[in-house]
Amino acid sequence: MLKGKNVLLGISGSIAAYKSALLCRELIKKGANVKVLMTPDAVGFITPLTLSTLSKNPVYSEYSDKKTGEWNNHVELAKWADFFLLAPATQNTIAKMANGICDNLLLATYFSMQNKTYFAPAMDLDMFKHPSNQQNIERLEGFGNVLIPSENGELASGLVGEGRMAEVENIIKAISSQDRSWVGKKVVITAGPTYEAIDPVRFIGNHSSGKMGYALAEKALNKGAEVILISGPTQLTAPKGAKLIQIKSAGEMLAAVRAQEANLYICAAAVADYTVTTPSDQKIKKKTETLSIELTPTVDILAEIGANKKEGDFVVGFALETNNEVENAQSKMQRKNCDMIILNSLWDKGAGFGGNDNKITILHKDNNIQNFELKSKSAVAQDIIDSIQSKWLV
Ligand code: CTP
Repeated sequence: MLKGKNVLLGISGSIAAYKSALLCRELIKKGANVKVLMTPDAVGFITPLTLSTLSKNPVYSEYSDKKTGEWNNHVELAKWADFFLLAPATQNTIAKMANGICDNLLLATYFSMQNKTYFAPAMDLDMFKHPSNQQNIERLEGFGNVLIPSENGELASGLVGEGRMAEVENIIKAISSQDRSWVGKKVVITAGPTYEAIDPVRFIGNHSSGKMGYALAEKALNKGAEVILISGPTQLTAPKGAKLIQIKSAGEMLAAVRAQEANLYICAAAVADYTVTTPSDQKIKKKTETLSIELTPTVDILAEIGANKKEGDFVVGFALETNNEVENAQSKMQRKNCDMIILNSLWDKGAGFGGNDNKITILHKDNNIQNFELKSKSAVAQDIIDSIQSKWLV
């Protein structure tokens, strides 16, 4: 979403300004063009040199360049920007923005903006809670600006509470999730386990919770896509707006996928590789001798989607590996004709089935590899959706 976007990064005078350097770097890494605007006070917290080096653009804080006399045109800057991101947004700057006070270049540019403004407040606990500040924040939201909520935690004063600027990762997430560029696109997501019946009361299943697939459905909906979630049995509630198709077995999942025609397929389900050849109609009675159950391979749904892929379609698979992870996942990507494989290593602590966190590596068809830290499944889902977007629809 950020690729090729013109971002005006506004910085006002707070200690949280040190995070703006990381934010600037992250925006650049995601392919955005960044120009930085600072209030005169912000310059005391972080140097323009740091930000001009990171953004590869001049940094603006005064109406005119003191040496050359050149005028910094706030209207041109505002016109250039696809959006304005004020992080950190201090109480003072928020108050001025909410009340039409325009005494520096950053504010003049804000008041000239035609496109969206996001603001990430940063201040001490009691300042943050003050009714005047709360009213100003509400007022700014009322003008159509998007609040990136501050977080709870340790503050520069030593106090602990609300008012800390959102972490860089969450700011990026907040601006990415506003993007609706998948409107008109249909996304099929498979999720959860499959149950292969042995008899009317028993089955062969697995520990998949479905959380990853459901989180992906939510993020794809945020982008404006039509989402068909084909899910095995889980304890989860489908995100609002998704069309949920509930199935039990790998065969039913295959039939449900075949009935859809989509632009993007994400196969996050843990599909059984084998099904019971002849499930019993009656409950199998206990006997003393051993019991053998014959299994037949299931159809590989992802491979079938890959084999029938049309021009412009994008196909994403998952791979859970225990050895030679990257090579195995790469050969899986080729075999199943995928554009991207999300690799889970069983050796990564906290990753994989069941839990709320996941650690992934994304392998792309063009051999690009992205490694990610252990994160919540929701944050991982956002990374996957952003990564898909960077290769699809470009
Ligand atoms: N998959 C599928 N249909 C199947 C089996 C797997 O759609 N019948 C999909 C999964 O949803 C996942 C990917 O294939 O996206 C890889 O699954 P995985 O179990 O890691 O690989 P397998 O192909 O089953 O290979 P192996 O078990 O030998 O590693």
